[in-house]
Amino acid sequence: MEKIELTDKKQSKEDILKQSLLRQRGQIPKHIAIIMDGNGRWAKANGKLRIQGHKAGVDSVRDTIESCAQLGVEHLTLYAFSTENWRRPKAEISALMKLLIQTLRKETQRLNDNDIRLNAIGELTKLPKICYKELQESMKLTAGNERMVVTLALSYSGRWDINQAMISIAQKIQSGELSADSINQDVINEHLATAEMPDPDLLIRTGGEFRISNFLLWQTAYTEFYITNKYWPEFRRGDIYEAIEAYQSRERRFGMISEQIYNQKKENAGVTV
Ligand code: IPE
Ligand code: IPE
Ligand code: MG
Repeated sequence: MEKIELTDKKQSKEDILKQSLLRQRGQIPKHIAIIMDGNGRWAKANGKLRIQGHKAGVDSVRDTIESCAQLGVEHLTLYAFSTENWRRPKAEISALMKLLIQTLRKETQRLNDNDIRLNAIGELTKLPKICYKELQESMKLTAGNERMVVTLALSYSGRWDINQAMISIAQKIQSGELSADSINQDVINEHLATAEMPDPDLLIRTGGEFRISNFLLWQTAYTEFYITNKYWPEFRRGDIYEAIEAYQSRERRFGMISEQIYNQKKENAGVTV
């Protein structure tokens, strides 16, 4: 089926070409996760208030979702608010929550028109009621969509996720549904908030910091990291393409040696080694 364009404006010929070259060049990651950082610093550098930085970041989210869907990325996970972000000044938190509500109201229909499913992970019940309600409505509306899943990590942290998984596993052991010696990595995966998605292939962090800030700790065991100095509000599809090109140039060895990876690739291509 012909894919519908995400925006009203037509995709430029150059962009279509750039995307098809990228697809020919190598594999497009199935799952991209992004730490959208640097909104405050962008605002400061431009003589604006921090919240204006967060607002400007919405355009980056839109362009990222659009270009990833066009490229055929299956899962896009966006770190929007961490467990630790609750420690920020109250005024910034409430402005962020308000922005989330406004953005959901404005963008959900467009996501739905483009067959994109909205999902959320994190301690969602900690969000203000109206935020939680708006999120549930957007998720319900888009639940049947299949082109790409956009997951917002909200009030999320990797340690929270591992903790909640441990609680539900322990409860199952207590009730006799599970035995302690049957716990393995698959069982742990199934109890994480990310149970329904593959591990990220590529993690992008904007704003130049070389840290994970409690994002997907378990799930990024073999994820390729790409860090850019660009602040999130400056980030556009061209930066996604650069990150994917960098990803395509890496050799993912998963603990093996180069020759094994080379032989595996040959076998997969149907060539006898
Ligand atoms: C990321 O930008 C957005 C959130 C954490 C909500 P920041 O607000 O952390 O921006 P910097 O890092 O202060 O520049
Ligand atoms: C990470 O950014 C969280 C999000 C992007 C939502 P932070 O700005 O909170 O990270 P630290 O505090 O610099 O590690
Ligand atoms: Mg930051």
